[in-house]
Amino acid sequence: MGLLQWEKRYSVGIAAVDHEHRELIELINRVYDESASQDSKDAIVGFFGDLFKAISAHFALEERFMRERGYDRLTQHKNDHERLLDEIRDIMEDFETSNRFDRQLLAQRLDAWFSRHFETHDARLHTALGMHPG
Ligand SMILES: [Fe+2]
Ligand SMILES: [Fe+2]
Repeated sequence: MGLLQWEKRYSVGIAAVDHEHRELIELINRVYDESASQDSKDAIVGFFGDLFKAISAHFALEERFMRERGYDRLTQHKNDHERLLDEIRDIMEDFETSNRFDRQLLAQRLDAWFSRHFETHDARLHTALGMHPG
């Protein structure tokens, strides 16, 4: 059982974005599960790298989408993305330098992330642009 689970209310109604959100949840769960085994530091570092890349690419997609449609809250949304990337970078660096991995902290941060960013910024994107599933 992973850390996060996809829920219908996470849907922003933009197929490409929803697809990537599901993929991110899977990746995060893999990082979280890997972290339970103490002798797989390399695997965790590798997964973190993949996670960071996937998240950056996802944010770039959303930001391109918002720019193309002249979304009114682009700056606020982009700032939140940057804050999230900073947090991931911090967790990654802590882990690489200290050898200690705080699973609880990772769980808390990632959970706060998805529940908040999905339900506020990403959901508003859906509402404001009036997109329909498909
Ligand atoms: Fe977003
Ligand atoms: Fe998103």
